[in-house]
Amino acid sequence: ASTVALIPAAGRGERLGAGLPKAFVDLAGHSMLHRAVRGVQASGVVEHVVLSVPTGLVDQVRTDFPEVTVVAGGAQRGDSVRAALAAAPAADVVLVHDAARCLTPPTLFVSVVEAVLAGAHAVVPGTPVTDTIKSVDPAGVVTGTVDRTSLRAVQTPQGFDFDVLTSAYASADADFTDDAGLVESHGVAVHTIAGDPLAFKITTPWDLRLASWLLADEAR
Ligand code: CTP
Ligand code: MG
Repeated sequence: ASTVALIPAAGRGERLGAGLPKAFVDLAGHSMLHRAVRGVQASGVVEHVVLSVPTGLVDQVRTDFPEVTVVAGGAQRGDSVRAALAAAPAADVVLVHDAARCLTPPTLFVSVVEAVLAGAHAVVPGTPVTDTIKSVDPAGVVTGTVDRTSLRAVQTPQGFDFDVLTSAYASADADFTDDAGLVESHGVAVHTIAGDPLAFKITTPWDLRLASWLLADEAR
């Protein structure tokens, strides 16, 4: 069975605030994009990679990753995934993986692909929520305590039957924060598997510090 991986890397990185698109920020000598691409390739289960990057960086990324398909992303994450999917060669399984989750262990890609090949149409890694979660009103006053036993914080790579993701993106609305959300809205059952702490998303300056500490620790 063949697998293609889409890596949306066209975001601006507003919350990180590094002054350049987040995927191009250096993390201990390599860009997050470089680390994400190499992580996917190291899994050994992906035949082809498609990247969506900011429009002005397409040519540079094509030079840096000659073996990979590179397209311009869009305004929202969903637009960037849609653009990558349109450029992807047909496959049995498609993975969608945030460039910002660039420390994801290669084994997690293997587990997601295996779960799709075992018959799930959509698979997401997720971890139990450990904090107590409150809902609040606009003034910040607590309106309830959410039962966290039924909650999962979900990660990428998210894996799908290629046809399932393609038909979901064929509909007009792709305004979801993750691809499983879009597929769910089309009535497809989304299965969860155990996530990995290293698949956390680098969103804020704190996350970037954490990532560089983890890499320094690994190098010792
Ligand atoms: N992404 C994308 N195209 C967009 C927005 C996001 O390809 N228009 C990608 C990002 O590059 C990232 C992943 O989707 O790899 C997850 O998005 P997020 O962490 O929100 O990254 P940014 O949108 O860059 O960050 P911010 O929301 O803080 O601006
Ligand atoms: Mg964003």
